[in-house]
Amino acid sequence: MSSEVAGEVLEVRKYPDPVLKKISETVTVFDEGLEKLVKDLFASMRVHDGVGLAAPQVGVLKKVAVVEYEGKSYVLINPRIVDQKGLQEGEEGCLSFPGIYANVMRPEWVRIETHDLDGSIKTIEGQGYTARAFLHEMDHLSGKLFIDYLSNLKRNAIKKKVSKHTGGHF
Ligand code: NI
Repeated sequence: MSSEVAGEVLEVRKYPDPVLKKISETVTVFDEGLEKLVKDLFASMRVHDGVGLAAPQVGVLKKVAVVEYEGKSYVLINPRIVDQKGLQEGEEGCLSFPGIYANVMRPEWVRIETHDLDGSIKTIEGQGYTARAFLHEMDHLSGKLFIDYLSNLKRNAIKKKVSKHTGGHF
């Protein structure tokens, strides 16, 4: 990806914005618009010191996400898991849930088939925290959130905490 042009910082949608529960569409057109979306996702993620960001989190229902961890950047377009190994439990957060963290079980290692910006197919692998980031972002593309892995008790506690901060009561 060329990085001469900086991306635009977009508003990150916060839970319970309904767009976060929707299923994104497969990308079929690999054009400048897609390249701009990817740049905008990187810019919007970096401004919040995020490790990943998915298109639905900026209100765009396309199967596109970015991950950046330990100096490595990854672009996920129509990603799908082709192999996975092991299990890990660890703390997870989400830019759509500021200040909320919870332990989630994930595979320890994944191999993912994804499209590149030019439409070619490539395979990427992630271990540990990188695998966790890939899987968290891929969940966003099918409307799944990290709180969906928690017990009803924990999930309801988070919903209550979130509603306190986003208001809605007068
Ligand atoms: Ni997230």
